[in-house]
Amino acid sequence: MAADIKMLFFFLFTVVLSGVGKSAFVGKSHSGGKDDPLLQYILNNSLREHPVLTKLKLRTLEDPLSKMMVATEQAQFMANLIKLINATKAIEIGMYTGYNALSMALAMPEHGRVVACEIEETYVDIAKPFFKEAGVENKIDVRHEIAMKTLNNLIAAGENGTYDFVFIDADKLNYDRYYEKSLQLIRKGGIIAIDNVLWSGKVVNPAASDTVSRALDALNKKLHQDERIDLSMLPVGDGLTLAIKRSNY
Ligand SMILES: C[S@@+](CC[C@H](N)C(=O)[O-])C[C@H]1O[C@@H](n2cnc3c(N)ncnc32)[C@H](O)[C@@H]1O
Ligand SMILES: *[C@@H]1O[C@H](CO)[C@@H](O)[C@H](O)[C@H]1NC(C)=O
Ligand SMILES: *[C@@H]1O[C@H](CO)[C@@H](O)[C@H](O)[C@H]1NC(C)=O
Ligand SMILES: *[C@@H]1O[C@H](CO)[C@@H](O)[C@H](O)[C@H]1NC(C)=O
Repeated sequence: MAADIKMLFFFLFTVVLSGVGKSAFVGKSHSGGKDDPLLQYILNNSLREHPVLTKLKLRTLEDPLSKMMVATEQAQFMANLIKLINATKAIEIGMYTGYNALSMALAMPEHGRVVACEIEETYVDIAKPFFKEAGVENKIDVRHEIAMKTLNNLIAAGENGTYDFVFIDADKLNYDRYYEKSLQLIRKGGIIAIDNVLWSGKVVNPAASDTVSRALDALNKKLHQDERIDLSMLPVGDGLTLAIKRSNY
């Protein structure tokens, strides 16, 4: 299994190196990257989208903030990670209209569970009928409240060290706090996936007034030195870091 993950990283790394000098792999096909032929090539030749995910994507594109939606190829990558590690317990911090929560639930066995945190009722209302249509509504536990509250409740309920996978994708200024809570909730060998770590490239020398870019840059630098995890920073979507909790921590 560990060998499988290493192979996957090696593969990604090779693909990325061949693109040095271009940023072709960074972006989302539904926002910014639409006309990028290389990104289109990746999608044309690798995306296997469940029909209900396709429907949910089309519905989400009607929303004015649809650029928030996860990149489809990134969701598929994370679903593959979930299968690789046999994950049955996942958390999504920032569900929006549910594309990735649905994708994770579809990748899990019948007893799998996704705790999905979302503060906006409008988005919860858009998501739920699609979960039902895909037949996985029992696998997705939507928590309509502030994510930090949900995470504290899970810890208080004694779920420390029991989660296999966490996806952090909500308010950027709280990412560091979400990361610390996630490290408590995740098991050894579990994966914390952190979205937007490249923030459209703005993490490189961020302006003093740009608090979000600075916060993400500070988190990136903290994780690089963090002995509790192994990590990879991947140029997929808006940038994705995988932090894997070390077994000796
Ligand atoms: C980038 S979107 C998530 C995209 C989603 N993961 C997907 O698969 O398409 C971020 C979401 O986090 C939600 N959010 C922001 N702050 C939050 C908080 N404190 N607690 C819970 N949800 C929050 C926003 O309402 C928004 O829907
Ligand atoms: C991707 O597929 C579409 C639809 O078949 C096609 O029009 C387009 O040329 C393809 N692009 C690439 C880069 O393969
Ligand atoms: C996942 O489950 C399959 C089938 O039950 C098993 O063969 C495999 O070794 C498991 N992998 C991990 C990483 O536990
Ligand atoms: C959960 O684990 C963390 C350390 O990983 C500890 O600080 C905290 O007290 C634990 N919480 C509970 C409720 O056991």
